[in-house]
Amino acid sequence: MFIHSSAFGLLGVAALLMPTASGACTREGLLAAANSYVEAVAAGKIDGLKLATSNFTYQENNKAADIKRGVLSQPLKIDLNRSTADTTACASYTMIISSGGPKPYVIATQIRHPGDDTSSISMIDTIAATTGSLFFNAKKTLGYIQQENWGTLAEADRPSRELLKKVGDSYLDMWTDAKAADSIPWGTNCERVEGSQLTKPCGGSLPRGGSSKNNIDRRYVIDETIGSVDILCSFQAVGNYPDSHEVRVEAGKVKYVHTVTV
Ligand SMILES: *[C@@H]1O[C@H](CO)[C@@H](O)[C@H](O)[C@H]1NC(C)=O
Ligand SMILES: *[C@@H]1O[C@H](CO)[C@@H](O)[C@H](O)[C@H]1NC(C)=O
Repeated sequence: MFIHSSAFGLLGVAALLMPTASGACTREGLLAAANSYVEAVAAGKIDGLKLATSNFTYQENNKAADIKRGVLSQPLKIDLNRSTADTTACASYTMIISSGGPKPYVIATQIRHPGDDTSSISMIDTIAATTGSLFFNAKKTLGYIQQENWGTLAEADRPSRELLKKVGDSYLDMWTDAKAADSIPWGTNCERVEGSQLTKPCGGSLPRGGSSKNNIDRRYVIDETIGSVDILCSFQAVGNYPDSHEVRVEAGKVKYVHTVTV
């Protein structure tokens, strides 16, 4: 009787701590919203986006902007799109490459939701590189990225959220902290695609301090199932650039790095 009632008490507490269906931030909900964004970019129309009716923010290249201008103002033929989901932060990250049109783009976008509810979007935060951006050549970038495998990792190969954040932060700290580069667990077959520039293995020719300006305003999307961290930031170390750095970690080692810099 004693055992029974205490077990019942625990269940009662567990039930109180369980998120309700409408308040849960699910992977499915995040990816559905991310896909609605991909469709909106393809169509050049925002009608299919469930934007929050109050307090919605659109940011392009680190500046508040009108969502109807910029990237979403024209249809784009999409060659590649890939999204990751962060159920802890209730946010997603999407990469889009459009290489064929008069205005080619490589787009890195984070989408955030109010509360834990993916049924509306509170923020779309985009770094959109186009002709004139750092090492920009969308066809070349597409060629490299199409070869990569960003599939779901086996449970045993998944890095922790803490490790992913640390690797992402250490990467962005390499320009200001001489010790950061050697703290990163580089994989032997790691590939780095910066704009359209490929470096392989990616642990070669790294910065080791030298700048006094931190890369700031870091926004994170972390997906342990893919082993990915994406950080949008204001890249201050060598200038002042809107930037996205995405890293994939497989079995504890860095496998891919992508940068999109405007
Ligand atoms: C409005 O959005 C900002 C930035 O995302 C957030 O900090 C703030 O709490 C929001 N306000 C309300 C009333 O939701
Ligand atoms: C986005 O990528 C998925 C998976 O590769 C594909 O099925 C879908 O058609 C793509 N969406 C667009 C608009 O190109």
